[in-house]
Amino acid sequence: MEKIILYTGKGGVGKTSIAAATASLLAGKGKRTLIISTDPAHSLSDAFETQIGNSPTEIGDNLWGQEISVIEAINSHWKELKMYLTGLFQSQGLDPSTAEEIATLPGFEEASHLLYLEDHIKSGKYDVIVMDSAPTGESLKLLSFPEAMSWYMEKIFPIGRTTAKVIRPLVRPFTSIPFPNDEVLGNMESLYNSLKRIRDYLADPDLTSIRLVTNPNRMSFNETKRAYTYLLLYGYNVDALIINKVYPPESGEFFKLWIKVQDEILKETNDAFPDLKLFSLKISKSETLGRVDLEKMGKDLYRDEDPLAVFTKAKPVTYEKSNGKYTVKMKLPFASKEKINLFNSKGELVVEVENWRRIFYLPTTFSDKNPVSAEFINGELNIEMV
Ligand SMILES: Nc1ncnc2c1ncn2[C@@H]1O[C@H](COP(=O)(O)OP(=O)(O)O)[C@@H](O)[C@H]1O
Ligand SMILES: [Mg+2]
Repeated sequence: MEKIILYTGKGGVGKTSIAAATASLLAGKGKRTLIISTDPAHSLSDAFETQIGNSPTEIGDNLWGQEISVIEAINSHWKELKMYLTGLFQSQGLDPSTAEEIATLPGFEEASHLLYLEDHIKSGKYDVIVMDSAPTGESLKLLSFPEAMSWYMEKIFPIGRTTAKVIRPLVRPFTSIPFPNDEVLGNMESLYNSLKRIRDYLADPDLTSIRLVTNPNRMSFNETKRAYTYLLLYGYNVDALIINKVYPPESGEFFKLWIKVQDEILKETNDAFPDLKLFSLKISKSETLGRVDLEKMGKDLYRDEDPLAVFTKAKPVTYEKSNGKYTVKMKLPFASKEKINLFNSKGELVVEVENWRRIFYLPTTFSDKNPVSAEFINGELNIEMV
């Protein structure tokens, strides 16, 4: 596997079109390319004007597509665990359908989309995977789930370290709990391990590039800034920003005010995303559908650049020790200090930005230190630990 490219951004900005255009471009260059839709509202079939199924479906030379069905993903990867959790909640008096709903933990569905990735990477069948994801909020959940789950698993089910008795901390609050059998434990352990590996693939800047797609208007631009902060917070490598649907000067009088905002945003972009490679694509006169036109769109977008390149490798978190001072530096360009909450919880640095929370496992030398002050220097949060 040479590369995974994941596009994210607000609904309607053009993620699916751009993902499909990129996949068509790469397949045209001879790369064996798989495009995966993880948006439950799939539109890849529409973009390619061909029926794409739940397993990789050939679209043409070197090009395959997959629109993942959540139900099938859960059944093929989480079945035993889900059945156990359903039983667990049912034994606590919930009716079967409520128990089943609750057994689908938050993020479960999103994470299910990721579980196919490992098989595809290991199969050796593809050189490139392009991921067309759901609108920002959902895809952030998808990207944060492996980490959230590994934290949960390590704390509550310290699998790998002990045997079945480790289940006790979870079930302690309940009474008369059906004990998970070996199948459930095995399922849970293999899920946990594969999510950990998938997270490593997605967070590996040499393998995965996350690219933000936006339109030149305030709403999508602001959402893009937030998404960027959160993606950095979760340690993913965002290497490019695509401004799609740019109005050309000849758009005329009717679009005058749109163009005014667009000009402001285009000016702000360079200051706002100094680390990212910027691409822009004009609004086209009609919809781009079908492989041939999508490939042209891909060429218009990337021009002389290679979509497989890594355009930036900004390291979002670094731990530094100098002159007896311990500092954690974190790139969070759009977070403002008032909205950030920091504390050390048992050797883990907890960073909360509005509704998001991330826990950094501190290196041993930092683990007994507490954040005492924090200051922003060039979009980087410098946290002093004492
Ligand atoms: N550069 C563009 N010019 C004109 N229309 C575009 C462009 N990019 C996308 N579109 C159109 O915008 C609509 C939404 O695009 P889509 O790729 O489905 O967005 P998303 O996946 O982000 O929701 C579609 O009708 C698509 O054809
Ligand atoms: Mg889409």
